[in-house]
Amino acid sequence: VTILSDRWSGLRKVPHVPLTELPTPVEHVPGLSERAGAEIWIKRDDRTAHRYGGNKVRKLEYLLGEAFAQEADTLITAGAAGSHHVLATALFGAEQGFAVHGVLVPQRFSAHVEEQVRAMLAAGAEIHPLRFGATAVAAIPALAARLRLRGRRPYVIPPGGSNLAGTLGYVEAGLELARQMEAGVLPEPDAVFVALGSGGTAAGLAVGLAAAGVTSRVVGVRVVPLPFANRATLGRLIGGVVHHLRALDERFPDVAAVARAQLVIDHDEIGEGYGEPSASGESAARLARERAGLELEPTYTAKALASALRQARDRLAGRRILYLHTLSSADLGPAIHGGPPLPRSLTRLFRQ
Ligand SMILES: Cc1ncc(COP(=O)(O)O)c(C=O)c1O
Repeated sequence: VTILSDRWSGLRKVPHVPLTELPTPVEHVPGLSERAGAEIWIKRDDRTAHRYGGNKVRKLEYLLGEAFAQEADTLITAGAAGSHHVLATALFGAEQGFAVHGVLVPQRFSAHVEEQVRAMLAAGAEIHPLRFGATAVAAIPALAARLRLRGRRPYVIPPGGSNLAGTLGYVEAGLELARQMEAGVLPEPDAVFVALGSGGTAAGLAVGLAAAGVTSRVVGVRVVPLPFANRATLGRLIGGVVHHLRALDERFPDVAAVARAQLVIDHDEIGEGYGEPSASGESAARLARERAGLELEPTYTAKALASALRQARDRLAGRRILYLHTLSSADLGPAIHGGPPLPRSLTRLFRQ
């Protein structure tokens, strides 16, 4: 059972497929705190599931639930070449018996990005490479229509998995974190830092924490262009999720305004753009490796931790900071070795 369905009985009808091993651990990291000048804690969402962790698995519990409820047999989703969301969908979708299609747009090459694509193929996903990101908006409904003509029943998951269903995964995570505070696992932090892409993680977390009465600020560290993640998009997502939950159980608290007020966006770590490594991100990744034994990647997690460390030096000096680690730490090596080599047609997904 989820905390959502346990606390609000009306939410028992929310479709949900268990994929995770929860709660994820929360750790105080003295080595990092000492360097940062603030008390640093890490919530280990890299360990949401044994096979493949990270933030996307929590979302997929509700997304696959909705796909089953709609009697879909096929999943379509999209992202950049190295998308953790597309890979998580490929792995857990296949495990649940869905055919999975990933529409991918080019991304700067790195060994990590290439590994992601190879793992998608090894999981049996069909990859549709696009030359330009702008064409993805039309490509997805076109693919869905083609699959319907072939008798398939596709369920479309938006890039990043941040529709209402997916965002519920992080409302649940916010409630889980609040419960860990109540149980004395950690004291209430002044701020929780998380990478901000499609927004479901930060928005859901803000709603879950607000619903539990936790007043920590949630800092979404923007790593995508402003039109994709801003106060308006997050505000709409928060409003939509709270409305959706209250329609199912009117006792769910009306926390939309509180959650919007507690969520702030840090726009200062995007650097040269989505997927482009930054100097502050690289230095944060080095510290994480040396002081916390954690591997970060440059697109999301390095920039999120860089924001936490920067603010630990000024406005949050001496305060308590929780960094939400959203990258899977599972080893994909064995899975990839069993899979096919990368076809030449997919090398155009990697920009130099
Ligand atoms: C490792 C990692 N962290 C954070 C995020 C951001 O989550 P969201 O898209 O919910 O904003 C993503 C999304 O792709 C991700 O892959």
